[in-house]
Amino acid sequence: MKVIETVDAFRDARCRAAEPLGLVPTMGYLHEGHLALVRRARADNRTVAASIFVNPTQFAPTEDLATYPRDMEGDLEKLEREGVDLVFAPDSDAVYPAGFDTYVDVGDVANRLEGQHRPGHFRGVATVVCKLLTIVRPDRAYFGQKDAQQCLVIRKLNADLNLGAEIVVVPTVRDPDGLALSSRNAYLKPEERAAALTLSRSLHLAREMYDDGVRDTEEIRSRMQALIESEPGARLDYVSIADAQTLDEFDAIDRPALVSLAVHVGSVRLIDNALLPSRLGAG
Ligand code: PAF
Repeated sequence: MKVIETVDAFRDARCRAAEPLGLVPTMGYLHEGHLALVRRARADNRTVAASIFVNPTQFAPTEDLATYPRDMEGDLEKLEREGVDLVFAPDSDAVYPAGFDTYVDVGDVANRLEGQHRPGHFRGVATVVCKLLTIVRPDRAYFGQKDAQQCLVIRKLNADLNLGAEIVVVPTVRDPDGLALSSRNAYLKPEERAAALTLSRSLHLAREMYDDGVRDTEEIRSRMQALIESEPGARLDYVSIADAQTLDEFDAIDRPALVSLAVHVGSVRLIDNALLPSRLGAG
């Protein structure tokens, strides 16, 4: 496995790599969710590349850039064990050299939900993913369904700017108790973990209601809200039931829907989602 820190050296290695090449972009502190992306990329491609870069432009000044969990040594061991061929691990100056001043704004789909609650977040994500897809030129790039809106934003970016990668979305990986894996789970204190389960429980409730024939989004949303509000350790940011492609909210589920939510537990803001009807293993 080659670990490469500069854009020029990565481009060089990429030229010599066997095709097809799959890219797994990450911000490091890798968990089983990331490794599921790597395994899928390994199964689909002759060369697997991963990137490790904590992207400063997707964090608001009030967010956790400085304290975001990092473990480069542990990450490299995990990637090596999974048979990754190339790792792109640039520092901030390699990605954003002095004078950098070009950003990518994806339209409507980036302005809802997380876009409203974290202004500028998707501008940072789209900018860095655009750079990664341009530098690495993967045949396929792999992202987790856990960040459902991010996947929609990246699909739109890839299509609108003709970046040419196939965007592959891999189902969310969960702990046995239902908590969706996230690097930020590392911030949860033991007593907060129980409160964090309110996210997956409320999604389970939505799925049960849907399976029982309920289609009224307000009815589902209010039962989910009540469940979350009954957990003293959790503070709801939003629950949304929306068209799974456009994120337009609707009154009755008459097409594939994305149920998504954001909840504060202690100092941690967690997100999760489910598709209705569920695609096998997708939520
Ligand atoms: O999902 C992530 O880890 C990040 O948003 C990504 C896609 C690697 C861009 O920094």
